[in-house]
Amino acid sequence: MNDTVLKTENLTRYYDVSQGWMKPRATLKALNGVSLCLQRGKTLAVVGESGCGKSTLARQLTMIEAPTSGTLWLDDEQVNPASASQIRSLRSKVQMVFQNPYGSLNPRRKIGDQLEEPLIINTNLKSAERKERVRDMMQRVGLRPEHYYRYPHMFSGGQRQRVAIARAMMLRPSIVVADEPTSALDVSIQAQVLNLFLDLQDQLHTSYVFISHNLSVVEHVADEVMVMYLGRIAESGPKQTLYEKPLHPYTQALLSATPSIYPERRTVKIKIEGELPSPLNIPSGCAFHKRCPHAVAQCREQEPALREVQGRQVACHLAEQFV
Ligand SMILES: Nc1ncnc2c1ncn2[C@@H]1O[C@H](COP(=O)(O)OP(=O)(O)OP(=O)(O)O)[C@@H](O)[C@H]1O
Ligand code: SF4
Ligand SMILES: [Mg+2]
Repeated sequence: MNDTVLKTENLTRYYDVSQGWMKPRATLKALNGVSLCLQRGKTLAVVGESGCGKSTLARQLTMIEAPTSGTLWLDDEQVNPASASQIRSLRSKVQMVFQNPYGSLNPRRKIGDQLEEPLIINTNLKSAERKERVRDMMQRVGLRPEHYYRYPHMFSGGQRQRVAIARAMMLRPSIVVADEPTSALDVSIQAQVLNLFLDLQDQLHTSYVFISHNLSVVEHVADEVMVMYLGRIAESGPKQTLYEKPLHPYTQALLSATPSIYPERRTVKIKIEGELPSPLNIPSGCAFHKRCPHAVAQCREQEPALREVQGRQVACHLAEQFV
């Protein structure tokens, strides 16, 4: 069996946005040609500053939105965004966990009933079997049997996120896309929820796309890491390769601000100068050139292609100099 569970080629999502009264509408390039590959049972972490297109990518991968262009494959099946019946049948394979679990839970329904709901809609299981599956999943995510009859507001933030994770897992999806799933939680609770993700992956072999702006969190959970900047991939590869020796100046800057177990990186401190440019007005050449401490004339004129250097993909003209 092919080990690739999720693949995209040049996935692109533009938004047509208003710029205000009397101004022409503009094209906002939120996601701009992203090609990625996720292996079965593994975790791909997506990182980058606010507005770089992480949630936009998540909405394309979960088929909540149709891309402007590009291709998505789930379990080797090419997704045709125009086919509602195909999307319905594929949707149970890929589920999403959001930053705020309230968004995916109904405040007026008991937790047990909410967990049972996907089974009612998508399976022919009998009531007793469904309830058994719910109790099994509640136990796996660390909820007690009596929680079955409680409402979302009766739980703490961490417990609510456990419920949301249980709900995402009910149909045993091949892929879970988690968009900042621990960012709204107390630091003391974050590690528990991250460990829950890891335990469930061990038990159920689920593949994760794990979105986070926190590189310490990513270091804990990822196999592969993809760094995004203004809708494009800056650098992507195995976690250890990137964390030990980042080659893109943007990855270097992000990691230099993160406590590390790698001694080589502890000495380098790089500050990113300036504001993140607007995705309505992406700089010419390398989109990072206005903030990059290494920029040369070529960077202003020519967009660097994503290419293989030392075991990872990197989009920087000077990547070899940083090896
Ligand atoms: N529906 C939409 N219509 C217009 N613009 C949008 C829409 N959704 C996202 N954008 C814009 O696309 C860009 C990428 O947004 P996105 O939410 O994907 O970023 P993000 O990386 O998830 O950021 P954050 O870390 O803040 O969650 C932003 O400039 C955002 O304003
Ligand atoms: S291409 Fe140039 S501006 Fe872009 S990251 Fe590399 S050195 Fe910096
Ligand atoms: Mg987001």
